[in-house]
Amino acid sequence: MKKILVTGSSGRLGKELVKQLKQKKYHVIGVDIIPSHTTDCIIDIRNNAQVLDFTAGFDAIIHTAALHGKHFELHYPRIDFIRTNIDGTINLLNACVANSIKKFLYISTTSIYGNAMDNPNQAVWVDESLVPDPRDIYDITKLTCELLCRDFFEKNQIETTVLRVSRFLPENDNLKAIHRLYRGLDERDGAMGIILALEKSFQTFEIFNISNDSPFTKNDLAELINNPKSVIKKYFPQAEAIFLAKNWTFPTKIDRVYSIEKAKKELNYEPIYNFDKLIED
Ligand SMILES: NC(=O)c1ccc[n+]([C@@H]2O[C@H](COP(=O)([O-])OP(=O)(O)OC[C@H]3O[C@@H](n4cnc5c(N)ncnc54)[C@H](O)[C@@H]3O)[C@@H](O)[C@H]2O)c1
Repeated sequence: MKKILVTGSSGRLGKELVKQLKQKKYHVIGVDIIPSHTTDCIIDIRNNAQVLDFTAGFDAIIHTAALHGKHFELHYPRIDFIRTNIDGTINLLNACVANSIKKFLYISTTSIYGNAMDNPNQAVWVDESLVPDPRDIYDITKLTCELLCRDFFEKNQIETTVLRVSRFLPENDNLKAIHRLYRGLDERDGAMGIILALEKSFQTFEIFNISNDSPFTKNDLAELINNPKSVIKKYFPQAEAIFLAKNWTFPTKIDRVYSIEKAKKELNYEPIYNFDKLIED
């Protein structure tokens, strides 16, 4: 049985990962600095000696622990992002080399596309070929960690893979439903996508967007920026009545569409909790 380490196991995504990995009968150990029922050990990833010692004997690491957008909004200083995100990640990558852990999944973010998603004329099609343009210290540290992963893949033969997950923050039902159309993720689908990557072998360094499935296509991009309601109604004629009954409002602008075509094709990723499922429920 494979022994998997999940960092950030008390967090929103980490908890779901531990749950799903256990259901799939993996030997999973969760570490975090905050206790929870999904965390086995209190380990601070900033502490190199602790990380090196604890990681011996694992087959793979799924690294979700981070400071993220919420901490940015709370004005955490830049150095905290560097210590947790960059130092924490390189400690884990070095531990992979020292302890012969061959597989490392890095949980990154679609946020790193940043300024590349700004186009006043049409919504932006966001697939993995769009060059990231970080907007803030969170994005900068996440992109740096992606580059570190590539470096360890190339020079140390650690099978590192990057999963750029999209937004799964708590939000009201109206916003959640709208986000599921183009930029949101249910963490149950996120964990499923990550486990599919865990179960696949990669000969090359790969990056995948992991988001919920969008009904929109490249042909919709121009209309989405100015008149998203008509595009939504094209795919979901019942949406107007549902929004009215729930007292929800339609978005006035949709600025991007996260594409998950690569994950669908190469990982067989098929998210379940998409917009249609959410409004059906
Ligand atoms: N939440 C989102 O919408 C979102 C979107 C895109 C990407 N992500 C990424 O997904 C991952 C998980 O996000 P989440 O929303 O579940 O976050 P979360 O804040 O719910 O969980 C992160 C966990 O990491 C732990 N942690 C922080 N510093 C640590 C340290 N030094 N040592 C050990 N553990 C530490 C925290 O205690 C927390 O439990 C992050 O890497 C984040 O960048 C999140």
